[in-house]
Amino acid sequence: MPILSGTSRLAGITGWPVTHSRSPRLHGFWLRRHGIDGAYMPLGMKPDDFAIAIRGLVALGFRGCNVTQPHKLAAFEICDAVEDFARRAGAVNTLTFADGKISGRNTDGYGFIAHLLASGVDLAAGPALVLGAGGSARAIVAALQDTGVRVSIANRTRARAEELATALPGLRVLDWDARSDALRDHAVLVNTTSLGMAGQDALEIDLDRAAAGLAVADIVYVPLETPLLAAARARGLLGVDGLGMLLHQAVPGFATWFGVRPVVDEELRRFVASDLIDAR
Ligand SMILES: NC(=O)c1ccc[n+]([C@@H]2O[C@H](COP(=O)([O-])OP(=O)(O)OC[C@H]3O[C@@H](n4cnc5c(N)ncnc54)[C@H](OP(=O)(O)O)[C@@H]3O)[C@@H](O)[C@H]2O)c1
Repeated sequence: MPILSGTSRLAGITGWPVTHSRSPRLHGFWLRRHGIDGAYMPLGMKPDDFAIAIRGLVALGFRGCNVTQPHKLAAFEICDAVEDFARRAGAVNTLTFADGKISGRNTDGYGFIAHLLASGVDLAAGPALVLGAGGSARAIVAALQDTGVRVSIANRTRARAEELATALPGLRVLDWDARSDALRDHAVLVNTTSLGMAGQDALEIDLDRAAAGLAVADIVYVPLETPLLAAARARGLLGVDGLGMLLHQAVPGFATWFGVRPVVDEELRRFVASDLIDAR
């Protein structure tokens, strides 16, 4: 780790709890790679302390921070300015502090799309089917729509999918039970549910009904190879894991706070993935 000076650039991740976060490891890797005089810290903040703690970071001269649960909504209120995409995504995950002002954005959608493209997914091939309507689904749907892709959504609790469709016009809502049949009309499948996560049931979907060339993305990254991805690869379909989204979403924040645009490469993936294996 570089030795800090009196002018070190400081950033971190706020959440409660924040102990599970891989972001300090990820940003720490880039700080070390680029020999930057800076630090990225875990910043545990209880919900009631969020506003005052963020003001404290501003007062201390931090460049900004990432925001994870349960603060992604509270982060809106503390911002002096919020970018349009964060409003569409319904969450702020990246704060930048400059001249005493706080600006908020959401980089999850950017991270998701950047990883799809880096994995060779052709977004012009046809519509996308997103499973799940939780916190992460909205940013993913909004980002897909912004690339011009038509998006359908299916969620166990249909009312939550309907709410997303109200927030994101053009989103088509399908029944959860129709998800396997719907595969033949879609070129990309995205799992944003927590199914497939270590300790949870696998996602049940019949990939044998998929259109030829379906790309299958899973944003779950513990385990890295979810049952869904294993089933996709066994059928010769392109599988896109969740770790890449996590890595790519960190790029814009790092670039703003530390002044270097970092790259996501195999060495970084291996470094962060080795910690995921330990955590299983
Ligand atoms: N790769 C990344 O960078 C990244 C980023 C964010 C999140 N994630 C991962 O994405 C997953 C979801 O995160 P989130 O924050 O969106 O979670 P969330 O807000 O809690 O939403 C969970 C979603 O999963 C669905 N679900 C849960 N149990 C289910 C079951 N038994 N059957 C069918 N659907 C079920 C929920 O449906 P209902 O609405 O019916 O409850 C809801 O749509 C987590 O594994 C998280 O670690 C990855």
